[in-house]
Amino acid sequence: MVGGDLAGVHAVGIALHNIVSGIARMQQIFRDRSQGDVLTAEAAGARCLFAPGSVLRQPTDTATSDAGNLTPETLVLLKLQDANAHAPSGDIAFLRESWSRCPAEQWVPALLEGVWRRACRRPEGDGSASAPTCPFPAPEPSR
Ligand code: HEM
Repeated sequence: MVGGDLAGVHAVGIALHNIVSGIARMQQIFRDRSQGDVLTAEAAGARCLFAPGSVLRQPTDTATSDAGNLTPETLVLLKLQDANAHAPSGDIAFLRESWSRCPAEQWVPALLEGVWRRACRRPEGDGSASAPTCPFPAPEPSR
């Protein structure tokens, strides 16, 4: 599908799901008028950021940690979305302070913020004080 492009594999396998989850949450927030009317694009984008569920690490040497002793044979799962949900931040979601930070760490928030701005935009020349109509498709009926 992506011709062996590893960035493409990440984008399709992980990133896309996280963006879809973010848009689904945005839809919910938008439908809640009390929040939909007051949230800035930056705040809405931050609330709709989903990190990869977990990322893998393998120690290069022995070390100790709160979770126990680590060796080069240890596989470490960093539960990134749990950490992000606890303290939402692009720094965590994109591992901004780490050597492996996501190259899309500015593009993704800009996308989410742009979607929110567009959703909240009133039609040109519409001086009405009413809230914008919801541009998101209606949710699927639950089965
Ligand atoms: C919600 C959206 C996204 C989140 C939360 C996210 C998060 C992350 C994280 C945490 C990593 C580091 C993984 C690790 O250390 O094992 C990463 C790596 C990466 N991301 Fe994203 N990402 C997102 C969207 C995207 C998109 C849209 C693209 C490209 C189209 C992308 C391209 C990459 C690439 C190429 C890497 C590997 C970088 C490297 O190893 O040097 N990401 N991403």
